[in-house]
Amino acid sequence: MRTESSVLRSKDLLGIEPLTPEEITLILDTAEGFKEVSERPVKKVPALRGQLVINLFMEASTRTRVSFEIAEKRLSADTLNFSASGSAVEKGETLIDTAENLVAMHPNMIVIRHKHPGSPKMLAERFENIAVINAGDGAHEHPTQALLDAFTIRERLGRLQGVNVAIVGDIKYSRVVRSNIHLLTKMKANVTLSAPPTLLPAEIEKMGVRVVHSLDEAIEGADVVMMLRIQLERQGKLSFPSLREYYNTFGLTRERLRRAKEGVLVMHPGPMNRGVEIASDVADDPRYSVILDQVTNGVAVRMAVLYLLGGAHASE
Ligand code: CP
Repeated sequence: MRTESSVLRSKDLLGIEPLTPEEITLILDTAEGFKEVSERPVKKVPALRGQLVINLFMEASTRTRVSFEIAEKRLSADTLNFSASGSAVEKGETLIDTAENLVAMHPNMIVIRHKHPGSPKMLAERFENIAVINAGDGAHEHPTQALLDAFTIRERLGRLQGVNVAIVGDIKYSRVVRSNIHLLTKMKANVTLSAPPTLLPAEIEKMGVRVVHSLDEAIEGADVVMMLRIQLERQGKLSFPSLREYYNTFGLTRERLRRAKEGVLVMHPGPMNRGVEIASDVADDPRYSVILDQVTNGVAVRMAVLYLLGGAHASE
């Protein structure tokens, strides 16, 4: 029998692109139910008792790795954290051989972050009895980040449809923006992008977004301003003359924020480059900034994803 917990069509969460609006709403509604668990004296429910989740992080992470682990523990799953550093990956073992060995120990789910786009899909296709969750693959997708961003917007503004979201910064190298564009356009929000021309992929408008070249124009009338980190590790060398010049042109300051709507939300997926894409007094101002709310909501959203995939897997 298929239960409410088995409504997601896929056994995996590889990206936002394959999800329907109904599946996105299901995940956000399920997360709403789980948010309260983190506020209880005993922060635990037995939903995934007896299931083993392996967190396979082959790229640096603070928020995603920690919040997946907390989410797994709050659902009573057994968790194992694997990082490339200190493992046989340092001796040259491949991702597939690493995964084959981990799967031989019978996990139910694998959460993977990897620098190569498509790595989660490769594992999902190879291991048909394991649920694979993409925790960020290169510049491709970061689905749970977009889900927690949407959860935060919906929690604050009560809806996603018709909300004006300005996304500013390193569009070209960001997996967060790709997942957010898929999610926000599926949920009928209005997305405006702004970036230096060198950080804007060609034909990005085909994804159903508006592109403007000045930060002021993007902010005008925005309900949400989402700033993106400059991904220096993927750019190789700076795609603009200097960090100071970037801040002067695309850095979010209090003065620039005056153009946004009353009650505008300022978001950032983290980690922030303070004084590059965002001024510290904006990032830390509770009148606008929901940056730490995003982090809090990440636990509930990841609990929902693990529960929906783990529950579906267990009921088959
Ligand atoms: N937002 C995000 O993915 O942060 P981490 O790299 O710290 O996980």
